Amino acid sequence: MEIRNLKQEDIKKVMSLENMVFPKNIAEKEEVILDRIITFNRGCFGIFEKEKLIGYCSSEVWEDYKEAKRNIKASLNHKEKGKILYITALAISPEYQKRGFGKKLIKKLIKTANNFKLFSLYLRISEPLAKKAKGFYEKNGFEPVRYISKRNDNHYLMELKINKI
Ligand SMILES: CC(C)(COP(=O)(O)OP(=O)(O)OC[C@H]1O[C@@H](n2cnc3c(N)ncnc32)[C@H](O)[C@@H]1OP(=O)(O)O)[C@@H](O)C(=O)NCCC(=O)NCCS
Repeated sequence: MEIRNLKQEDIKKVMSLENMVFPKNIAEKEEVILDRIITFNRGCFGIFEKEKLIGYCSSEVWEDYKEAKRNIKASLNHKEKGKILYITALAISPEYQKRGFGKKLIKKLIKTANNFKLFSLYLRISEPLAKKAKGFYEKNGFEPVRYISKRNDNHYLMELKINKI
């Protein structure tokens, strides 16, 4: 098992994981995910077992939290000198869930945020995923800061504070 930064040539593997793990209306587009890997490579990780991708995450540095939307390119929001790490995706292949791999990716993201001297990590959990994912993030220190109710897109905004402003 190896955790490393994603490469552009991993994109097909990332897309098959993305489409396996997330429902159709939540999975994001290849061009958007590829842009994340290119724009902030230090915040995008994959877990590989031999050549098989079993988990992945992506993130970007923002000035501050603003309302996140799906399928927005990192190149539009990413500011290397920003204050927060926004996690755009985190997914573990179903057959590898509950074996500590999600936690390993969270640790990598916290380390990245510390390296960039950021104050918080943020992410959104879509309502359909909350039953499984909210407990996982809470177990890893995240707290719900807001419930955002939108037609067809209700979600929780979660935050993990790591450094004091
Ligand atoms: C949510 C997800 C990332 C969790 O990854 P995972 O590899 O299964 O989780 P881990 O095995 O690393 O769990 C880490 C810890 O969280 C706990 N945990 C996991 N799921 C939990 C849940 N639903 N409720 C409470 N605790 C949970 C584990 O027991 C473990 O605790 P420990 O540190 O005491 O052993 C994974 O299930 C997944 O990809 N789900 C589908 C996609 C998704 O919902 N992504 C997140 C929204 S963007």
